[in-house]
Amino acid sequence: MNAPLIDPFQRAITYLRLSVTDRCDFRCVYCMSENMQFLPKKELLTLEELDRMCSAFIRLGVEKLRITGGEPLVRRGIMTFFDGMARHLESGALKELTLTTNGSQLEKYADALYAAGVRRVNISLDTLDEDKFAEITRWGRLPQVLRGVEAALKAGLRVKINVVALKGFNESELFDIAVWCAEHDMDLTFIEVMPMGDIGNENRLGQYWSLKDLRATLAEQFELTDLAERSGGPARYVRIEETGQKIGFITPLTHNFCESCNRVRITCTGEIYTCLGQEGKSDLREPLRASEADAPLEEAIRAAIGLKPKGHDFDYSRQELGGQMSRHMSHTGG
Ligand code: GTP
Ligand code: 5AD
Ligand code: SF4
Repeated sequence: MNAPLIDPFQRAITYLRLSVTDRCDFRCVYCMSENMQFLPKKELLTLEELDRMCSAFIRLGVEKLRITGGEPLVRRGIMTFFDGMARHLESGALKELTLTTNGSQLEKYADALYAAGVRRVNISLDTLDEDKFAEITRWGRLPQVLRGVEAALKAGLRVKINVVALKGFNESELFDIAVWCAEHDMDLTFIEVMPMGDIGNENRLGQYWSLKDLRATLAEQFELTDLAERSGGPARYVRIEETGQKIGFITPLTHNFCESCNRVRITCTGEIYTCLGQEGKSDLREPLRASEADAPLEEAIRAAIGLKPKGHDFDYSRQELGGQMSRHMSHTGG
């Protein structure tokens, strides 16, 4: 009954990404359109239901839980949820409880997250230039995020900075960002921009900066050594010998990593998406609410994982947006 979750391609599902809200206090141009329609609050899983959902997955073998959004820390009462998850860390069933955040609320929450057992956070930050930051996030302000980064480090959290590689936008900052991360002993991961959702007038193909090119540029000034080490996500890492820091590359476009996929995503309304790059989804809210016992939920989880596709179809090689998804990244939290 508690057999591990194995998908049709013999991949074990051990990593759950849970989006706790579709809302965000920023409007990053590659992620959202300016006038997003958000879900009515009554559609959301309650904090208790989020707990039950995660606990079911943990019982079925999930060892890594990443909380996402939108921006997860704008969900009201979210610390109650984190505090609840601490029991799974204490029991040893859960190996890692973490989150991906834009950093805007970390000044407020960093200590409490550490106290709940979080040891590592991924913070999205695409530029260190105040004006450019305001431009890319539309609503965000850099100093607030930098205070959040500082608070996270001070609280004892390991920080990884996520940078979406954007042509003509942060190309010129490649070395500055790398050096800034090294100075603060933070890891750094670059991400290729993916065709998720309609983003109004923004031009995704024009934004695309391949990490093959980015890596070659980095190698002009630094000696890079490939590392076998993994963080449980899709990044592949190198070490910069001159600074000793670790740099990750997430390359859905230039190098597909789907064969080693270990994750599924749950939205804040309880839908499960078994692939970021496919439209397929199943509803888990109905079986969750159908019974106080978890049997119907567990059955629905197994059925959904039985439908997990082989991988995404993202492809820009024909100068068009192959594999474009209708939903925004904020719907599933990346
Ligand atoms: P670590 O635990 O540090 O390895 O984190 P992570 O890379 O798993 O999580 P994070 O939330 O930082 O995700 C970084 C980027 O990777 C986001 O843009 C995600 O959308 C992307 N990503 C994560 N999983 C997948 C995946 O299965 N497929 C694709 N195409 N992108 C993914
Ligand atoms: N392509 C790649 N990464 C994206 N993110 C948001 N939208 C996109 C996109 N279209 C990133 C955010 C955050 C992570 C969860 O996903 O910057 O770091
Ligand atoms: Fe918000 Fe993150 Fe999307 Fe930016 S990328 S709008 S911070 S959810």
